[in-house]
Amino acid sequence: MRILISGASGLIGRALTERLRSAGDTVLVLVRRQPEASKGEIEWDPDARVLDSARLLGLDAVVHLAGKPIASRWTEDSKKAIRDSRVRGTRMLAEVVSQLPTRPKVFISASAVGFYGSRGDEVLDETSARGQGFLADVCCQWEEAVAAARDAGIRTVQLRTGLVLSRKGGMLARVLQAFKLGAGGVVGTGRQWMSWISLVDATAAIQHAIGTAELSGPVNLTAPQPVAHAEFTRNLGKVLGRPTLVPLPAFAVKLLFGEMGDELLLTGQKALPRKLLASGFQFAHPDLESALRWELAH
Ligand SMILES: NC(=O)c1ccc[n+]([C@@H]2O[C@H](COP(=O)([O-])OP(=O)(O)OC[C@H]3O[C@@H](n4cnc5c(N)ncnc54)[C@H](OP(=O)(O)O)[C@@H]3O)[C@@H](O)[C@H]2O)c1
Repeated sequence: MRILISGASGLIGRALTERLRSAGDTVLVLVRRQPEASKGEIEWDPDARVLDSARLLGLDAVVHLAGKPIASRWTEDSKKAIRDSRVRGTRMLAEVVSQLPTRPKVFISASAVGFYGSRGDEVLDETSARGQGFLADVCCQWEEAVAAARDAGIRTVQLRTGLVLSRKGGMLARVLQAFKLGAGGVVGTGRQWMSWISLVDATAAIQHAIGTAELSGPVNLTAPQPVAHAEFTRNLGKVLGRPTLVPLPAFAVKLLFGEMGDELLLTGQKALPRKLLASGFQFAHPDLESALRWELAH
């Protein structure tokens, strides 16, 4: 297959590109810098709406992962950049792809479990209503931005992604050093739910979504066993063989990270991957301990 990926330099994009190329697919990547054509790179500038559609002929699938990272203290400017980088880029790519003479069969676009907002112990699946807050607003607009592709008859999939576990990037990589030093611990009450997925399962599930015609619309990209934050902390300490006795109370999180800390660290979602499971996807790491052991070793 001939597959176009945006955000291919990111945590998920790098691993997905490698997986698809190893499987024999031709992967083209969108880059926001001078492209190297020999590496299958195509230049785009989502802010300036620059993308040469003549380079996109013969695509079977598009996987759109690009977006400004969200794990920093939010300001009005950074919130606008987080939203714009997702909504504008998605809308533009969906529009360009929908006007191609031969359209790809599937357009897969990232989203996040932040769509559901803060929901306590409620079990969430793809039929659950949206939540409240900045991330829920962004996810809603981000998911809706695929409209041009959907309206053109392209199968669209929005990946409501949970916390992707890898030692190579993302949240786990950021806290790893502190936990290795025995300086890790529970954040807030520890009762907030974490919907997580190993990086290897995340890329396998995206590959599955590319090839599974019955999958469309929102798809929770999360493992089948979400855990409370305290359980996550206990498992990470166990796998590393380190104590996890240094808590980070809610007031400190709010002081250090403001609104971002509230939405990303102190509240969470208990999301289940009902559509992935119903479509026959098999998780290599359905439970957290095996996911952590694998991802910390690879
Ligand atoms: N990792 C997670 O735990 C997680 C959880 C939920 C949702 N997601 C979502 O899934 C997607 C992929 O995740 P990831 O962890 O691979 O992300 P990542 O490592 O932060 O990579 C995202 C990529 O987006 C591009 N990018 C960065 N800033 C941008 C901007 N201002 N405008 C346009 N593109 C920009 C970059 O690629 P180029 O420089 O190559 O363009 C970057 O490598 C993201 O949209 C993320 O929000 C991830």
